[in-house]
Amino acid sequence: MKTNKTVIPLLLTKNFFLAKRVTSSFFKIWKAGFFPKKNFGHDHFKNLGLIYFKPTGQCNQRCVMCGQYGDKGIMKGVEEQESKKDLPLETWKKFVDEVAPQKPTVYVWGGEPFLYPDLMPLCKYMVDKGLVVSVNTNGTLMEKYAEQIVRDKWSTIFISLDAFRDVYDEMRSKGTYDKVIAGIKAIAREKKKQKAKFPVLGIVTVVTNKNYMDLENLSEAVREYNIDLHIYNLGTYTNDNIVQTQRRFMKEKLDTDIDCLEAYNTGYNLGIDGQKLHGILRTIQNKNYGHTVLTVPALNPEKTHTYYAELEKPVRNNCVVPWCQVNINYNGDVHFCADYSDYILGNIKDQPLKDIVNGDRANLFRKTISESEGGMFPGCLRCYQNMLFGKKIKGF
Ligand SMILES: C[S@@+](CC[C@H](N)C(=O)[O-])C[C@H]1O[C@@H](n2cnc3c(N)ncnc32)[C@H](O)[C@@H]1O
Ligand code: SF4
Repeated sequence: MKTNKTVIPLLLTKNFFLAKRVTSSFFKIWKAGFFPKKNFGHDHFKNLGLIYFKPTGQCNQRCVMCGQYGDKGIMKGVEEQESKKDLPLETWKKFVDEVAPQKPTVYVWGGEPFLYPDLMPLCKYMVDKGLVVSVNTNGTLMEKYAEQIVRDKWSTIFISLDAFRDVYDEMRSKGTYDKVIAGIKAIAREKKKQKAKFPVLGIVTVVTNKNYMDLENLSEAVREYNIDLHIYNLGTYTNDNIVQTQRRFMKEKLDTDIDCLEAYNTGYNLGIDGQKLHGILRTIQNKNYGHTVLTVPALNPEKTHTYYAELEKPVRNNCVVPWCQVNINYNGDVHFCADYSDYILGNIKDQPLKDIVNGDRANLFRKTISESEGGMFPGCLRCYQNMLFGKKIKGF
């Protein structure tokens, strides 16, 4: 399977400046894995290569496998009350002013980012500050902003599309499929009209037991949208035993009660026939669709069965995230793990990010994870960030 490094040549063909900047972010991430990991007394702020922004936790879809609004999603029932905590644009701008000199890549996600009323001015502000801005959206609210997105030069837009209409309705939300397709087409149309290379247009497909048999047809179908990149995300899943072990571990080592991991204990991995999926992914990888196709993690195809059926078997370890990345939640809380907001490092309304990432809570987290077996926590086994940035275990 191809690795994520194949993205760099793709970006190079688009724009040398952008490729250079992304390469510099990746270099910080690579450095975090290569050199001995330092904890207390080190300036970690300087090594932030990737900052995740979640401008809002609100969402207009209810995807079954999602850790926020899925079957066990942590935002279900508290969305309205939590939405009152979304930060105003001015707070985000001040925050951007602080981090921009470090030139990190920024990854905007949610909830659904287009539900944040000031998403457009926020992204423009970040682009104007010279940041590489990537936005991950369900695409349902995007069509009317297409002209501005292209004009404002967002670097990358990742649109979630998991299946054709019937399965899409089953996995995500009924009646929204046409809106996503209209949004994707609008971006492609605007790029052509404005003769623009940006944003790099990517589709992200989460693999579940509902959609995996039809992925080859999906790969074929998305060709007509003139996309640049198609990412197959093998999905974040966990089970009762991993959740219990992580719960005990985090309480004992970091005095933290955890809620987020259980939200991925959905069972949508169950019944995936690893042999069949392996064959499907191999066929996809061997075809030339005219755009780059990636799988996260870039797994040895022979291990596809293990990934879904043996969740307790690590495929990646030695997570580098606490040494090079940070996530800012809609309420200003800072945490390392984007999907697991249980351990809070601090809040950007109260402190500069520099003090937060160099603070005692951050350092204790780093020390604890680096001293844990395999350089990761028991709950990190299929974490998306670990799948992207963890160390490949031999054979996987
Ligand atoms: C939480 S969503 C937020 C952005 C936006 N609402 C969207 O759906 O694209 C971020 C990404 O996570 C993906 N996702 C949802 N559930 C997942 C799971 N269990 N494992 C891995 N990725 C998942 C979504 O499809 C999307 O591409
Ligand atoms: S659209 Fe995104 S945030 Fe909303 S439920 Fe689906 S995956 Fe979760």
